[in-house]
Amino acid sequence: MIKPTDKIWHNGRLIDWNDAKIHVLSHVTSYGSSVFEGIRCYATTSGPAVFRIREHTRRLHDSAKIYRIDIPYSIDELCAAMLELVRVNKLESCYLRPLVIRGYGNVSVMPTKDNPIETYVACWEWGKYLGEEGLENGVDVCVSSWTRMAPNTLPALSKAGANYMNSQLVRMEAAINGYAEGIALDSNGYVSEGSGENLFLVRDGKILTPPLGASVLPGITRDTVIQLAQDLNIPLAEGLIPREMLYIADELFFSGTAAEITPIRSVDRITVGKGKRGPITEKLQREFFGIVEGRTPDRFGWLTPVTQPVGAR
Ligand SMILES: Cc1ncc(COP(=O)(O)O)c(C=O)c1O
Repeated sequence: MIKPTDKIWHNGRLIDWNDAKIHVLSHVTSYGSSVFEGIRCYATTSGPAVFRIREHTRRLHDSAKIYRIDIPYSIDELCAAMLELVRVNKLESCYLRPLVIRGYGNVSVMPTKDNPIETYVACWEWGKYLGEEGLENGVDVCVSSWTRMAPNTLPALSKAGANYMNSQLVRMEAAINGYAEGIALDSNGYVSEGSGENLFLVRDGKILTPPLGASVLPGITRDTVIQLAQDLNIPLAEGLIPREMLYIADELFFSGTAAEITPIRSVDRITVGKGKRGPITEKLQREFFGIVEGRTPDRFGWLTPVTQPVGAR
């Protein structure tokens, strides 16, 4: 259950948590017209710092543009709002949720100027998504019977609320069948991603991940893993992955803001590699957590301290 904080940012001002309400007939409730982000603020050794705030906010703007939603706040303004919100709510670490919706007014599918664009940012305390234990030992997953949205249906590159109806089907089916998560294939039958995570595969020392054309979200953590692999001289390529490669991989792992870097130890009850976290996954995790927790120098400039004025990096 979510633990409320003091304030939520709405259209340029801070309002009380309990006042962040919308009308039931807002455009978003019937038609799924929202775009959003999920961002982590980590407790580092030098105070709370937000991970890749500009990249997430840029993706929010991209998600909105695809749907012809004009966010009335610039990337800088939204970044400043997020940093202020974490300060005001006095959190050491948290999850940030910027959310842009088409609001109340016109009730038909066609949004008009009578549906105001409402911009919110909330934040709250949040732990590990697939569990502490999962981060170390890996999780058991399945291939979903649901496929990801086909190209030219719901755009996968936009992090839109409506896409998460598909994610819910994947996630619920996995849970009902006793799995921690489901992996969806794309409409051509190639591996796409988890309900809320990108996927990486390791075979013979090389990392492979599905390309953006395989209906995946362009994950910020996906990009982080790609940069880390490059930096660590681990070969990595984007390419189509047939389902059966999941079963014969040496290592598999998820990446995502929520899941961070989580190893996968089995798919459809077939053991992946040795059935535990593999050496490449562990190496990437060590680098990732070292940086986000402030134990390793932030050589990529990924962290923004909540005390830092926007534009200072
Ligand atoms: C469907 C989906 N894929 C991938 C990701 C991972 O993206 P990121 O690393 O930006 O959190 C997420 C999480 O936002 C997601 O919901």
